[in-house]
Amino acid sequence: MKTLTIRRPDDWHLHLRDGAVLEAVLPHTTADFARAIVMPNLVPPVVTVSDALAYRERIMAAKPETDAFTPLMTLYLTENTDADDVEAGFRDGHVAAVKLYPAGATTNSQSGVRDIAKVQPVLERMAGIGMPLCVHGEVTDPSIDIFDREAVFIERVLQPLRERLPELKIVMEHVTTRNGVDYVKSAERNLAATLTTHHLIINRNAILAGGIRPHYYCLPVAKREEHRLALRAAATSGDRRFFLGTDSAPHLDPLKECACGCAGIFTAINTMACLAQVFEDEEALDRLEAFTSLNGPTFYGLPANEERITLVRHATPIAYPKSVYTADGPITVFNPMFPLHWEMEDHAVG
Ligand code: NCD
Ligand code: ZN
Repeated sequence: MKTLTIRRPDDWHLHLRDGAVLEAVLPHTTADFARAIVMPNLVPPVVTVSDALAYRERIMAAKPETDAFTPLMTLYLTENTDADDVEAGFRDGHVAAVKLYPAGATTNSQSGVRDIAKVQPVLERMAGIGMPLCVHGEVTDPSIDIFDREAVFIERVLQPLRERLPELKIVMEHVTTRNGVDYVKSAERNLAATLTTHHLIINRNAILAGGIRPHYYCLPVAKREEHRLALRAAATSGDRRFFLGTDSAPHLDPLKECACGCAGIFTAINTMACLAQVFEDEEALDRLEAFTSLNGPTFYGLPANEERITLVRHATPIAYPKSVYTADGPITVFNPMFPLHWEMEDHAVG
């Protein structure tokens, strides 16, 4: 049987939610991942260090006792964010990064930033202390086509921001376009990108061809095939500027299967199986570890995990659940639309 042993992976962009959903989804991440950058877009958002510490406690209380897992907390940047609070939280090791959501760009982003000039003092402080900014890189201008919002964000917001603050460490999260990949590759330092599992697998046809499929709808929305191919090339290249951020974003099924469904794809359960399959198909299994376990810690200035995990390739496709059941209802699991042969050795998927 073919196996692959790598350092235990981390997830550099994850939605864990709260309450019953947190309880149901968290064990699927802690089974496979050592650390995760935890998104702060709760309702209300995680804005202060004290919000982040309280949320961290709820995560630790929901965590299976036998799993060693470290949540890396983030703060939701608002136009009222206090630079002193951010700095103290970073210096004390309570928060790892700040998240910039342009107001209205995605799920629960109403309290995000409208005018980036207003957050300049916080960003300057972060640049001074080496604290990373995680960016949801899409403009919200309704006159910009939804498929172009990432490319326009780079031009209008990201490039000017990097010119103003070249010392600020920025993660362009869930990059979905060739433009995003090329932009990250053009930067020598202080810029990296996360790539999601699902954007390596689906293009926009998955959402729209043959019927509207809400479980493939997420933000940034999947783009054309040429973009998916650029993302796969970046992920499997070994380039240190690209690493895994699953953006696993669970929503209860009724909130997705309706007239105005929410954005988000739930991949926490089968991400490692999907990625091993993608890297095998690209003949790049030897670079999976860089993507899932090395490049992220390097950018964040953290040590790589010492512990190893083993992925096993089975001759017959593995089974994984179609849904996860929470006390509030079911959540559909990402279906990559191809058979998965890989499995984490010490845990049956699901
Ligand atoms: C995320 C969510 O549901 O919180 N949705 C998504 O489609 N990725 C928000 C986000 O990361 O954009
Ligand atoms: Zn996200």
